[in-house]
Formats: sequence, structure tokens, C-alpha cells
Amino acid sequence: MCIFLMSGLFLFEVTKPQTSLMAVRLKHHRYITALLGSSAILSFLYFQNSAMVLMDSSHGLVSERAPCACGNCVTDQGNSRWFSDRYKPTVPLLLNSNNSVLHADVSRWWKELQDVPNVSNYTAVVDQLFSLFPDEDAGPDRGRTCAVVGNSGNLLGSHYGPLIDFHDFVIRINKGPTKHYEKDVGSKTTHRIMYPESAMDLDNSTHLVLFPFKILDMQWLFSAFTTKNITQTYTEVPSTIKANKDKVMILHPEFMRYVYDNWTECHGRYPSTGFLTLIFALHICDEVNVFGFGATSNGNWHHYFDETLTPFENDSHAGDFENKTISRLQQEKKILLYRGWT
Ligand SMILES: *[C@@H]1O[C@H](CO)[C@@H](O)[C@H](O)[C@H]1NC(C)=O
Ligand SMILES: *[C@@H]1O[C@H](CO)[C@@H](O)[C@H](O)[C@H]1NC(C)=O
Ligand SMILES: *[C@@H]1O[C@H](CO)[C@@H](O)[C@H](O)[C@H]1NC(C)=O
Ligand SMILES: *[C@@H]1O[C@H](CO)[C@@H](O)[C@H](O)[C@H]1NC(C)=O
Ligand SMILES: *[C@@H]1O[C@H](CO)[C@@H](O)[C@H](O)[C@H]1NC(C)=O
Ligand SMILES: *[C@@H]1O[C@H](CO)[C@@H](O)[C@H](O)[C@H]1NC(C)=O
Ligand SMILES: *[C@@H]1O[C@H](CO)[C@@H](O)[C@H](O)[C@H]1NC(C)=O
Ligand SMILES: *[C@@H]1O[C@H](CO)[C@@H](O)[C@H](O)[C@H]1NC(C)=O
Repeated sequence: MCIFLMSGLFLFEVTKPQTSLMAVRLKHHRYITALLGSSAILSFLYFQNSAMVLMDSSHGLVSERAPCACGNCVTDQGNSRWFSDRYKPTVPLLLNSNNSVLHADVSRWWKELQDVPNVSNYTAVVDQLFSLFPDEDAGPDRGRTCAVVGNSGNLLGSHYGPLIDFHDFVIRINKGPTKHYEKDVGSKTTHRIMYPESAMDLDNSTHLVLFPFKILDMQWLFSAFTTKNITQTYTEVPSTIKANKDKVMILHPEFMRYVYDNWTECHGRYPSTGFLTLIFALHICDEVNVFGFGATSNGNWHHYFDETLTPFENDSHAGDFENKTISRLQQEKKILLYRGWT
């Protein structure tokens, strides 16, 4: 808590760009330590066939190599009963052709979310998807440090840009732009969460992470890279997008159900995209820092890129419950929330 308050002060009270960069460095001293740590591990791997390994291991290098080098590791389950009661490390994250069959209860729940008239054959759609997109058993790469960047207006004036870009993974949600907002939101994007109604063009190095709320979303993804003939879901959607098809990832419907069961405890109809993203990050990152979530300092809910007030979702999404859960994750030191005001 103290560390959080201090870093908040550093980032806000100081406005001169040079000093605020220093603040970022101070705050991220442990990241630098972590980087140094991993280069030691790399050189260890490089020399693993030589006699040096034996020397190193007898000097304790091997035993010191913990799975994670940060202060508060997500995967350190020993220290929060509340967390380990909910966190299920074995849940499938991404869909692939081997894990695509849905348990009956997952299938029933997920299919109930579909509010489009003609629902296609899931098996056939999945087969088609993996004829085009990466089909991997291994699951996504892991990041040591991740920034989850929501779209809240509380990012405006925050000067979080350099801090956000310092993370290994920068996960952005829906249409949140970086252009013209670099100072507050950064410019790096390693993962972009989207669905057809929130789609945008990506650069070649960004992972498109589809959150499929319905089968039609999967069909749209395929169509967007091939026939381009799906232009309508419950609203008009882009027929195509620019993105690297080799970096496409599709969230597993079972993961959505897991978040609904274990993290929103069945409040609302299904979890919000921001909340799903946060829990997803807890599964692919050692350390999760959260930006651009929640209201602005004067209690308004709007996106940083437009002034339109967005209603606080407390019906189809359990806004209140999600909010409480996010606060609890912070209390349990599993995430660090950057609220954009002091
Ligand atoms: C859904 O049904 C309508 C009308 O039958 C059809 O025009 C449309 O192409 C269908 N959509 C998909 C994705 O199959
Ligand atoms: C769905 O598609 C699969 C694979 O293409 C096929 O084997 C199955 O019979 C289809 N099911 C229905 C209900 O059409
Ligand atoms: C699916 O499982 C089979 C058998 O275990 C394996 O050979 C294959 O590589 C897997 N495919 C993918 C995409 O993971
Ligand atoms: C994008 O990346 C893929 C490999 O993932 C490569 O084949 C392709 O040429 C790249 N396209 C551009 C425009 O850089
Ligand atoms: C899009 O085109 C494909 C292949 O031509 C076709 O099978 C499919 O039904 C079409 N979908 C829509 C929504 O028009
Ligand atoms: C989380 O999931 C596990 C296994 O699926 C279940 O045993 C446990 O009760 C769930 N926890 C909560 C809080 O729902
Ligand atoms: C949100 O919904 C819950 C349960 O329906 C209710 O208890 C709570 O007062 C609502 N909160 C807001 C801010 O509307
Ligand atoms: C969300 O939680 C925070 C901290 O617990 C609280 O200050 C805020 O009022 C909550 N927001 C809403 C809309 O309930």
C-alpha cells in the first residue's frame, strides 16, 4: 500500500518530463533487476552444455532460479487463501483444435449468450478457424510484466505512457487508441482484445485476441481474413481488418465461464471485457499492473478518447461486483491499480 502511494506521488506531483522519467525508473527498479536476472538465466542456458553449468549450479544459480522474479507474483499461491480458492491454473486459455469440445455446462451457458437469430454449427466453425489461424497446444507465451490498459478517462493527464510501455506485454482493449494519446497511454501494444463490434486495424506485431461472445464472432474472424462477407452481427461490423493472421488468438469459451463462476461468482449475465482481460492477464503474466479502469476522479465514467459518458454497467455485467473483486485483487497484492489521480 505504501509503495503504491509513493509511486502515485512520484508520478503525479512531478510534472517536469525529465524527473518524471526518473520516477518511472525508480518505480521500476525491480523490473531492471528482473531483466538482469533473466539475462543471467539466458547466459546460463547458453552455456548449459559446458562445464560452467556444473560450476554455476554448485554456486546456487540453478536453485536460485525461481519461476518468477518479481515482488508479488501472481502464481505465488501460498499467500492468499481468497485468491487460491478462485485461481485455477489449469483452465484452458486459448481455443485450439484439440481442446475445442465444450463441456455441456459451458456449452449451455455460452450458447445462451448468443443473441443473434441463426446460430451455426460450432464444430464446423472451429474446424474452419484452425484451417487458417495458429493452432497450438502450448498456450500463449508468458510475460514477466504486463500492463492491462483499460479505456477510462482517468488516463487523461496521467503521464503513464512511458511506464506502460516499459512492460513486456501491453494489453489494450477494444478501440482504445494510442495515436495522439502517447503521453498518457503509451504507444506499445503487444495484445489487442477485440470482438467484431469493437474491431480495429492492428500492426503486424500485435496479437489480435478475439473474445468470442458468440459463434458468429468466430465466423466473422474467419470471414475478415478470407471472404469478407460478414458485415452484420446485431449491428454493422467491419467486413475486414488489417492484422497479422499468424498472431491471432481466440479466448476459450470455458475461460469465460470460469471467470463468470469463480471471479464474478455468477453475478450479472457474463463478465465485462475489461474484467475478462484482467483475469486473462493474471494467467499469462507474472506481474499485472492495471491502468485505465474505473471512474475519473470526479466520478464520471467515460473513455479517454471521447467525452461521451458511458453508463456504469451493473446489469448484464456485474459492475459493482467486478469493481469489488478488482479492489480485493489489489488488497491481496495480485495486481497494482493505477487510478490516474492522487
Ligand atoms: C443468417 O441468416 C440470414 C437469413 O437467413 C442470412 O442472410 C445470413 O447470411 C446468415 N448469417 C450467417 C452468418 O450464416
Ligand atoms: C456439425 O459439423 C460437424 C463437423 O463439420 C459435423 O460432423 C456435424 O454433423 C454437424 N452437426 C450438425 C448438428 O449439423
Ligand atoms: C493435438 O493432439 C495430438 C495428439 O496428442 C497432437 O499430435 C497434435 O500435435 C495436437 N495438435 C495441436 C494443434 O496441438
Ligand atoms: C507480417 O508478419 C508475417 C509473419 O508473421 C510476415 O509473413 C508478413 O510478411 C508481415 N507483413 C508485413 C506487412 O510486414
Ligand atoms: C460467405 O461466403 C461463404 C463462402 O462463399 C459462404 O459459405 C457463407 O454462407 C457466406 N456468408 C454470408 C453471411 O454471406
Ligand atoms: C473455482 O473453481 C473451482 C474448480 O472449478 C471450484 O472448486 C471452486 O469452488 C471455485 N471457486 C469459487 C469461489 O467459485
Ligand atoms: C448493482 O447491482 C447490485 C445487485 O443487483 C445492487 O445491489 C447494487 O446496488 C447496484 N449498484 C449500482 C451502483 O447500481
Ligand atoms: C469501485 O470501487 C472503488 C473502491 O472500492 C470505489 O471507490 C468506487 O466508488 C466504486 N465504484 C463504483 C461505481 O461502485
